[in-house]
Amino acid sequence: MPSSKNKSASINRPKKVNPARASGADLSFWQATTKPLEFATLNEDLTINTVIVGGGIAGITTAYLLAKQGRSVAILEDGYLASGETGRTTAHLVNALDDRYYDLENYFGKEGARKAAESHSAAVDLIEYNVTTENIDCDFERLPGYLFLHPSDKKDSLKKELEATRNAGINTELLDNVPGIPSEPGPCIMFPSQAMFHPLKYIAALANTIIKQGEKIYTKTHVTKIDSSGVVTSNGHSVKAEHIVIATGTPIHRTFEIHTKQEAYRTYVIGATVPKDSLPRALWWDTGDQDSTWNNYPYHYARLQNYDDEFDLLIVGGEDHKTGQPDKEGIEEEMRFDKLIKWTTERFPIQEVLYKWSGQIMEPVDSLAFIGRDPAESKGNIYFFTGDSGNGMTHGTLAGIIISDMIAGGENPWTSLYDPSRKTLKTAADFVEANVNVAKQYTEFLSGGDVDSVKQIAPDHGAIVRMGTSKAAVYRDKSGNVHAYSAVCPHLKCIVEWNDEEKSFDCPCHGSRFTCYGKVINGPANTDLTAVDIKE
Ligand SMILES: Cc1cc2nc3c(=O)[nH]c(=O)nc-3n(C[C@H](O)[C@H](O)[C@H](O)COP(=O)(O)OP(=O)(O)OC[C@H]3O[C@@H](n4cnc5c(N)ncnc54)[C@H](O)[C@@H]3O)c2cc1C
Ligand code: FES
Repeated sequence: MPSSKNKSASINRPKKVNPARASGADLSFWQATTKPLEFATLNEDLTINTVIVGGGIAGITTAYLLAKQGRSVAILEDGYLASGETGRTTAHLVNALDDRYYDLENYFGKEGARKAAESHSAAVDLIEYNVTTENIDCDFERLPGYLFLHPSDKKDSLKKELEATRNAGINTELLDNVPGIPSEPGPCIMFPSQAMFHPLKYIAALANTIIKQGEKIYTKTHVTKIDSSGVVTSNGHSVKAEHIVIATGTPIHRTFEIHTKQEAYRTYVIGATVPKDSLPRALWWDTGDQDSTWNNYPYHYARLQNYDDEFDLLIVGGEDHKTGQPDKEGIEEEMRFDKLIKWTTERFPIQEVLYKWSGQIMEPVDSLAFIGRDPAESKGNIYFFTGDSGNGMTHGTLAGIIISDMIAGGENPWTSLYDPSRKTLKTAADFVEANVNVAKQYTEFLSGGDVDSVKQIAPDHGAIVRMGTSKAAVYRDKSGNVHAYSAVCPHLKCIVEWNDEEKSFDCPCHGSRFTCYGKVINGPANTDLTAVDIKE
C-alpha cells in the first residue's frame, strides 16, 4: 500500500479566522472549494408568517418547503449560509443510522425503529426529488453502504443489527467480505440505496429557489432575543412572526432542560486522494469502539468525492471526543488526525492528505433527533430541531418536513417519534452519565491554569490562565498581541478549554464554542466571552 503524505498542519487554513465563513479555523473540502453563500444583513423591521433562525440544512429545508406552500418566510443566519456544521459534514445520506437499530428497538419498540428507518429513507428521497426537480448539479449519487465490525465489537452485534434492520423494513444483506477493503476480515452488512452529495452545492440551489419565490434570506444577522411574538437581532431590528423556527444546531433560546438530554462531540475528518476508480462507489462505516470512554462509541466513516481526472477524494471521519474534553483520553486534536490517517492508510490506497477539519455533532441520549414544538412555550408557535446524532443531513431534512407540516396544520406520521418532550427514561443510564460528566466540569474553577503566565503562550496559540479567583481565556495572535476574555462560559458558567486545532475556546459542559477572539460560534451560549484586561 503506498504511504500517505500529510501535507501540513495548515492545509486549507485561511490567514485569519472568519466566524462568518466557518465554525473553526480549518476549512472543509466543501467550504474550501465553493464561494461563501452571503446575502444582505437585515437592516429593517419585518412582519412575516415564519421566521427561521439558522441557515444550515434544517433551516434552509424548512424555508424551502414553507416557501413552496406559499408562506412568507425569512431566514436569519449569523454567518454565511451553511457556515455551521452543514459546511463541515461528510454528507452521507442514509437510513443506515449511526446508532444501532437494535438499540432503537429497545428505546422506541419495533414500530418506532421501523418509523425511524422509514423517515430517514423519506428524507433521502426528498433530497433526491429536489435534486431532480430543481435540476441541481451537486454530485448526488445512490450507492450501497457497508457496516463492518470494529475490532472491539462482537460478531453477534452484526447479526443482531441485521435482524433489527430487517425488522425495520430495510433490505439489508450479510456479505462475507467488505467490498473495497480487502484488509477487513468481514462479514459486513450491506445497506442498499444509500446516497451522498456535495452539501454546499445543494444548499446554494435551495437558497436560490427560496429567493426566486420572493422569500428572504439574511446573513451576518445575529438573533439575540426569541419569544412567541418573533425575534430581535443584535443590530436592534425585530421580526414579528406567527411561527418561529429555531434551527441553530443546538437551541440558543433555552438554558436548561434540552441540554441535559444531549451531549456535544467533536469529530475529525481528512480528505485524501485515491487513484480514480480504484475503489467501488460506496459508503463505509465500522461499528465503533465499544471500549471507548465516551457514550457515543466513536466510529469511522468513509466516502468518495469526485475530485479531478486522475484522483477521487476519499473523505474519512472519526476519532470523536466530548467537546472540550480531548485530554480525558490524553489525545490532543492534532493526534486525532494522525490516528485517522493511520486507520485510513491501513485500509485504503490513499496518496496525499489534502484536507482536514473537525466539526460538532449533538448526541441525544436516546439516538433520535428532537424535532417539533418547544415544550416550554405555552403558545405553541416556537419549533426547534436539535440532536442530529451524526445523521443531521437526514434529520435536518426531516426537521424541514415535520415542522413545515406542523405549521401547515397537517398530519405527519413521525411527529411523536421526534417530539422534543418524549420521555427518555429507558436511556436513564446514559442520561445520568452525561449529566455527571457535566457536573464534574465545574471543579475546573478550582484547578490551576494551562500555563503559569501569559508569557508562556506562543504566537497563534491560546491557553487558560488563572487570575486570582477567576480564570481567563487568552489568545496570542500571530503578531504577538494578547487577547484576553473571561474563561467563564456565558451559558451555565463552566470553564472553557483551548482547542489548538480549530483555534477556539470550547466549553466542556454543553458544547458552546468561541473563536480565539471570544466570538460565539456554537450554542447553547448566544453571547460572546467577556473581554478582560490581563498583564503580560
Ligand atoms: C464532521 C461531520 C461529519 C458529519 N457527517 C454527516 C453525515 O455523513 N451524514 C449526516 O447526515 N450528518 C452528518 N453530520 C451531521 C450534520 O452535518 C449536521 O447535523 C447538520 O449539518 C446540522 O445542520 P443544522 O442546520 O441543524 O445546523 P448548522 O448547519 O450548524 O446550522 C445552524 C446555523 O445556525 C446559525 N446560528 C446559530 N446561532 C445563531 C443566532 N443567534 N442567530 C442567527 N443564526 C445563528 C449558525 O451560524 C449556523 O449556520 C456530520 C457533522 C460533522 C461535524
Ligand atoms: S455550554 Fe453550557 S456551560 Fe458552557
